[in-house]
Amino acid sequence: MSDALNGAVRALDGVRILDFTHVQSGPTCTQLLAWFGADVIKVERPGVGDPTRGQLRDLPDVDSLYFTMLNHNKRSITLNTKSEKGKAVLERLVEHCDVLVENFAPGALDRMGFSWERIQEINPRMIYASVKGFGPGPYEDLKVYENVAQCTGGSASTTGFDDGPPMVTGSQIGDTGTGLNLALGIVTALYQRERSGRGQRVLAAMQDTVLNLCRVKLRDQQRLAHGPLKEYPQYPNGTFGEAVPRAGNASGGGQPGWIVKCKGWETDPNAYVYVITQAAIWGKLCKAIGKDEWIEDPDFATPEARLPKIEHIFDTIEAWTKTRTKFDVMAALNPLGIPCGPILSMKELAEEPSLRATGTVVEVDHPTRGKYLTVGNPIKMSDSPTEVLRSPLLGEHTDEILHELGFGDNEITAAREDGAI
Ligand code: COA
Repeated sequence: MSDALNGAVRALDGVRILDFTHVQSGPTCTQLLAWFGADVIKVERPGVGDPTRGQLRDLPDVDSLYFTMLNHNKRSITLNTKSEKGKAVLERLVEHCDVLVENFAPGALDRMGFSWERIQEINPRMIYASVKGFGPGPYEDLKVYENVAQCTGGSASTTGFDDGPPMVTGSQIGDTGTGLNLALGIVTALYQRERSGRGQRVLAAMQDTVLNLCRVKLRDQQRLAHGPLKEYPQYPNGTFGEAVPRAGNASGGGQPGWIVKCKGWETDPNAYVYVITQAAIWGKLCKAIGKDEWIEDPDFATPEARLPKIEHIFDTIEAWTKTRTKFDVMAALNPLGIPCGPILSMKELAEEPSLRATGTVVEVDHPTRGKYLTVGNPIKMSDSPTEVLRSPLLGEHTDEILHELGFGDNEITAAREDGAI
């Protein structure tokens, strides 16, 4: 903890995490736990480290933003866990820590000689938490990355437009989504351990997370057996097959919504706004867009009557929004209680002062990279403040951690000469 927190206590102070994670899903989880105060010890292969250190680099020989934005507030120890000396250190770490988090390809930790049974022998209080691509079943041995999870979890088949191919989304629901689920599993297991005294295994599979996040589509799959999905753009003129179709920008809830163009759309790819025609504000929306006659017209007055004409309705709304910027549309519709949201670009989000003020977007200084922006803790707690600290350099804390584990200088030198650290 730095001085900026003035000695404030954080929710997970005193919890020690043995962090065997790499890429995105696992590091998301351990970064969140670090923000809540846990001491996260990231174990990395000597000389190599987390592969993301070198991926998508924007500056030569500097840890990538990919890495720095997922590994704040952690300490880094280098360890070859396949060498004898490395295994001895790992055993000491398992004794020392409360939680082991990993997202290796299936079986990797067993191949290192650290099966769940072995870990329980060393430390029965250990919580052993894993991200895997799939849960038990036909695909359990497969390696998985974000887009594979989006495709196998139901997101890709239900994203995009009806006449186009399946689409992946920009938000990392498979990786970051699963990391968040795993973090919840870990803190729940820590809470149970208070009473049981025992650790346990925690598994979050990426397919399960994506499907969980797609629950409204599983809902619609079952509704499909009882007739067309009237809020989908395929109704009433298109056709429905056996599976939930892609719904474009339809809202997915009971209130129709769509993305419509705003002033400047011809040159600005983000000059759009999402508008929801919530039943409760229908009259106000009609007045705002100059269609007062729709309020009493039986062809438009009820949600049922409107559904078959929803495309025409959004075309009419768009004819109005195209004469205003997305922010003018917000300024006009917000006071009327009409749900709408501008399509904000990453540039706009990065520059938004209110997100800086809440710590949702944070500027961090790094010794070799300089200043950069990152996302901060999205969960705000009144009694557990978050301070975002830079990610560690590879092996920056190796000696410090080994001393804490009780290794002497001679042992550290010997391990280094052996290539174990
Ligand atoms: N010392 C020695 N060996 C180490 C080590 C260390 N500190 N850290 C890792 N290794 C070894 C592993 O033991 C493994 O060896 P093995 O194959 O002989 O058992 C090897 O490095 C590769 O690790 P692995 O995790 O399998 O990397 P990969 O590049 O083959 O696969 C993924 C990467 C992400 C596809 C895979 O880890 C995976 O499917 N993970 C689960 C799902 C997931 O999290 N996906 C990514 C989301 S961002």
